[in-house]
Amino acid sequence: MCGIVAYIGSQQAMPLLLEGLKRLEYRGYDSAGMAVTNEQGQLQITKCQGRVSVLEERLGQGAGLPGTSGIAHTRWATHGRPSDTNAHPHRDDESERGSGIALVHNGIIENYASLRTWLEERGHTFTSETDTEVLVMLISELFDPANGIDLEKAVQAALREVTGAYAIAVVCEHEPDVLVCARKGSPLMIGIGQGEYIVASDPSAIIAHTGQAFALEDYQVARLTRTAFRTSTLDNVCVSPKILNLELELQEIELGEYPHYMLKEIFEQPRSLRNTLRGRLDTIEGRVVLGGLSDFIPNLVRAGRIIMLGQGTALHAAMIGEYLIEDLAKIPTEVEYASEFRYRNPIIEDRTVVIAISQSGETADTIAALQEAKDRGAITLGAVNVVGSSISRMTDAGVYLRVGPEIGVASTKAFLGQVMVLTLISLFIGRRRFLSAETVSQYLRHLETVPDLIERVLEQSDAIRETTARYVDRENWLFLGRGTNYPVAMEGALKLKEISYIHAEGMPAAEMKHGPIALINDGMPAVFVATRNSQYDKVISNMHEVRARGGRIIAVATEGDQDITAHADDTFYVPDLPEALQPLLTTVPLQLMAYHAAVLRGHDVDKPRNLAKSVTVE
Ligand code: G6P
Repeated sequence: MCGIVAYIGSQQAMPLLLEGLKRLEYRGYDSAGMAVTNEQGQLQITKCQGRVSVLEERLGQGAGLPGTSGIAHTRWATHGRPSDTNAHPHRDDESERGSGIALVHNGIIENYASLRTWLEERGHTFTSETDTEVLVMLISELFDPANGIDLEKAVQAALREVTGAYAIAVVCEHEPDVLVCARKGSPLMIGIGQGEYIVASDPSAIIAHTGQAFALEDYQVARLTRTAFRTSTLDNVCVSPKILNLELELQEIELGEYPHYMLKEIFEQPRSLRNTLRGRLDTIEGRVVLGGLSDFIPNLVRAGRIIMLGQGTALHAAMIGEYLIEDLAKIPTEVEYASEFRYRNPIIEDRTVVIAISQSGETADTIAALQEAKDRGAITLGAVNVVGSSISRMTDAGVYLRVGPEIGVASTKAFLGQVMVLTLISLFIGRRRFLSAETVSQYLRHLETVPDLIERVLEQSDAIRETTARYVDRENWLFLGRGTNYPVAMEGALKLKEISYIHAEGMPAAEMKHGPIALINDGMPAVFVATRNSQYDKVISNMHEVRARGGRIIAVATEGDQDITAHADDTFYVPDLPEALQPLLTTVPLQLMAYHAAVLRGHDVDKPRNLAKSVTVE
């Protein structure tokens, strides 16, 4: 959801900003642009609709943008369609009124309409349809160096007037050796180099330059020069940031031998889940070790109710978590879209624990719902991937997914990481309530085998591609499952929709009879997650219902299940596991189907139409 990169130092800014934009392009890719301050202190801006490669081409046509400080942006449109004019950076009026200020922004300025009217009354002329242009004009209006209001103070003053979410980076011709950044709601990190700073929406654009960084907190402003930085609140009170050591390896964010990040991340799942599990399983004592939860054990064991919140794929992981927590920890559990929870006056009782599930830890709806839960007195936990992200900082405690950076827009390894962490949390609590050491040990021994078992499923990738090719021209698909495989079906449908633009619906297999069955026509693919478990026979009956109406059945079944071939047109096999753990395997063939379908249809798998990886606006 928009990527920001900014630089001030001694190197040429343009190539560095371009490289950073390429790393952040997963956040939005409908337009891109940059502003670089040249030696004379003048701003040079190039921006255009389209991918970062289009910007690169445009920059390559001229002399480029010489200079050693600048700001850059890759956009996911909110206010104003993708166009050259609406692309960032935005600058204040070109006329005499202008102070030579340019800005890039990630987020939404909610009160932009009233601010725009006020600024127009004061003679400012707007050229774009964006909310961002309002912010740069407001900073310009307040900028008054003759009266001591420099760029930093003008940014502070402007942001005091703004409601909404923002991460911004601002430069100004009057202060060519200064870069000002600020955040509320949208992430922004500042990398500290030798005589240089690199600012970015996430660490992937920083780690090639430095391992030292700090995250700006909400309502904080940073003023950077080549040699020093200062962080303050919007009221200009100095604050000291906590410096972090980024532990990312460059290879973790490079494609290597894979054609797409999504395929790389699907194939990385055995390794990423080994990381999720590392040091957390005590099979001898039958215990799960989750250091992040240790201070809250009494709250968890006595919890009267657990509410899990998330959006998109994270919500599907939460739905699996609901089955697991109720089954293994025996605590009543609910799952809700964070976006709905927040606005429906939710009831938080005394012993309610709220768990936010999120890959990025920056999803605006999930953050807002979590805040609501905190305000109403809930204990809050996070199951988050990005270390130091907003959700990880807001929650009382949490468990990191540890699956490494996920760059493909369609979430894969983070989903399995979320399911794994929720499985661990269920066993962690369950063992302290009703589960015996022996039972937990058995589960843990199975969990240890999951990475190797996933490798076996991945070996079927070519076969899955061949099967998918036979159905890929069909525009409507159903995904069906029961029990823990019902959310897996939902996730399978979401993956297919996201990257191949095929209409797909996931639902409980039994629900099909209550309406969706009317959709089934000759040759319509229905993917059944039909592993051997307590509801196997019922799922087989549902297959008959589809077949009788001309639908074609693709089954995900348990290895060794020969009977299924009598009911399904095509079958992919996964190794056997206890029912509660099956989603860790049954998800994988569906990820591969979606991937191959998108490639076969000629789509850009890592940059699907209209989507952004991290949705930082509500
Ligand atoms: C967006 C992404 C999804 C993701 C959802 C929640 O919609 O496209 O892939 O599942 O946000 O993101 P989170 O970072 O909170 O898991």
